[in-house]
Amino acid sequence: MRTRISPSGGGTVAFIDGVHATERAKSERSLTGLRKIAAGCQACDLWKNATQTVFGEGAPSSKIMFVGEQPGDKEDLAGHPFVGPAGKLLDECLREAGIDRDQVYVTNAVKHFKWEPAERGKRRIHKKPRASEIEACRPWLDAEIRLMKPEVIVCLGATAAQALLGKTFSVTRQRGQLIDSPLAPNVIATVHPSSILRAREEGERRLETDAFVADLKKIAGLLQIRKRA
Ligand code: URA
Repeated sequence: MRTRISPSGGGTVAFIDGVHATERAKSERSLTGLRKIAAGCQACDLWKNATQTVFGEGAPSSKIMFVGEQPGDKEDLAGHPFVGPAGKLLDECLREAGIDRDQVYVTNAVKHFKWEPAERGKRRIHKKPRASEIEACRPWLDAEIRLMKPEVIVCLGATAAQALLGKTFSVTRQRGQLIDSPLAPNVIATVHPSSILRAREEGERRLETDAFVADLKKIAGLLQIRKRA
């Protein structure tokens, strides 16, 4: 697979085997094929400092698609979404809500890890993606939605929510509400699990976790997929 980069306005555009990456994403018929093409994506500059493209994962029959912001340090190294601390918390909360991780598809609005070096030490510090980077990555997310046809899309945090529901969307004000959207029959947003991990006190973390689990139970209720206790 040959990827050619040519300048375009402020950024770059990837051509894969002579075809614009966006067009390839639009016409690809399988997630496996899409993942292969996305592995060579250079539609913005984030690939330069990232280890690899971290594409979405989950059973093709999944009815729920979770969309996060971007892979973190652990995900970048492993090549899988939501396998670091935020992913572990997501798993625990899914379990508490009675949703099997095997029943969901997890992906991100941006598929390369954006980071900067810590002032001291070797840590890689997460940096929020810019609007242009989210936009450059959008064809992959649109193609995942087109192929998965999820019954529920869950936006985790503001980056995913604003990417899919518009810049004025507020997770604080609108979390847990069903949003009318052409993307899927049910679209809903809640907090990102990493925001729960940032809570300073144990009590606050428990409250936020409970609220997150309540949102997940609502989502499970939409599909009536909660397991009987
Ligand atoms: N945070 C995200 O938004 N996505 C991941 O895959 C991991 C952490």
